[in-house]
Amino acid sequence: MAIDPGFLEELRARTPLTSVIGRRVKLARSGRNWKGCCPFHGEKTPSFYVYDDHFHCFGCGAHGDVISFVMQIEGKPFPEAVQELASAAGMEVPVQTQAARQVMDHARTLEDVLTAAQKIWSAALWRPEGRAGLDYLLGRGLTRETITAFGLGWASEGRGDLVKALAHDGITPEKMAEAGLMRVDEGGKPKGELFWGRVTFPIRDRRGRLVSFGGRILGDGQPKYLNGPETPLFSKRRLLFGLDRARAAVRAPRPRGEASPALVVVEGYMDVIALHQAGFTGAVAPLGTALTAEQLEVLWQVNALPILCFDGDGAGRRAAIKASETALPMLKAGHSLRLCLLPEGEDPDSMVRGRGAPAVAELFANAQPLADVLFDLLTAGMSAPGPEERAALRSRLTEAAALIPDRALAAEYRSTLLDRFFAKFRGSRGGRG
Ligand code: UTP
Ligand code: MN
Repeated sequence: MAIDPGFLEELRARTPLTSVIGRRVKLARSGRNWKGCCPFHGEKTPSFYVYDDHFHCFGCGAHGDVISFVMQIEGKPFPEAVQELASAAGMEVPVQTQAARQVMDHARTLEDVLTAAQKIWSAALWRPEGRAGLDYLLGRGLTRETITAFGLGWASEGRGDLVKALAHDGITPEKMAEAGLMRVDEGGKPKGELFWGRVTFPIRDRRGRLVSFGGRILGDGQPKYLNGPETPLFSKRRLLFGLDRARAAVRAPRPRGEASPALVVVEGYMDVIALHQAGFTGAVAPLGTALTAEQLEVLWQVNALPILCFDGDGAGRRAAIKASETALPMLKAGHSLRLCLLPEGEDPDSMVRGRGAPAVAELFANAQPLADVLFDLLTAGMSAPGPEERAALRSRLTEAAALIPDRALAAEYRSTLLDRFFAKFRGSRGGRG
């Protein structure tokens, strides 16, 4: 009995292991993880550990993910455990038909198509035809090691080159379209290659599987970046660029006293790559859209306190407010955000190159807790508000706090925000002076 792996992946991602296990086992923090007394064998000292995607008992060896936890604890067969978790998460288990079976085989072949393209593009970058692309990347300060590690490539200028090359592997334009490598007309028929004359950035899911590509034009053409379309493998609202590497880096065991790299969300591909090269190996970026609730959830599974980094200008501030409003309904004690605003006109890539890694490290170290920045963000630009503005601002602050479902935490935010409101605007009551 096989269930679509994409569905299972989504189910696991939407079902935090700690909440499912926490209903049966009293869990306490243990560093980045949780531990408690193993429910599978009698014990008084906890040796049962819960990580972001699996549990392990060092006493009896019980081990598994959220689905096998339900199977083991309730003695349920796999399909029933999946059904139970899916209902709790408000998801519908896809019906297993012949067609669904084909979809699964198909997902594997889509990955094969992308891998074939990746081979061609990454090899081309190092050949004479890819010289312009390689020079561009080296000119932006990337080393050969970094370029190789991220699998950057070159899609040649020649329209039809990739179609021809993949034809040798028996891959049709239709298959390429399904894998997100072609533009299609309204009828879904392939209309031409999506990526040509661009540097290519492989996009991987959190386990490192190739799911799509981004492409940057050399110089100033438009659009500057292209991203592959949504496909059965690629969901823009769930994925973050660099997550596979950041997740491994943040979770890697470290010698005592050595801190893990911070999990940092920045805006662009090049920011992520430049940061990794400079040693900030916890950097990730959304795929050209505002940060979504799904992405926040994924981030919190890796780390309880990720940093969101925004431009210091008006657009950056608006993006920070938007991200905060997405995050507030999802906040819990011990699971929040820090924010940092970059100096005006800089992005992390330009910061690393212009001011050096120590300046960036300082910036991240000074990232402010959400509760502290929220007030500044919501009141930016106000100096002496009149009565109407004061009232509007107060409701904005209380509404922001009311977005938090945890009542105790909402009350904390409400009083923090209002305290700061009275402290800052006490003198301005009654008008503009
Ligand atoms: P930015 O325009 O801020 O570019 O786009 P950047 O990352 O600084 O790029 P460089 O330094 O000029 O190379 C940030 C992100 O927004 C998405 C991409 O994901 C990009 O990394 N984007 C941007 C697009 O999807 N399309 C575009 O045309 C531009
Ligand atoms: Mn940039």
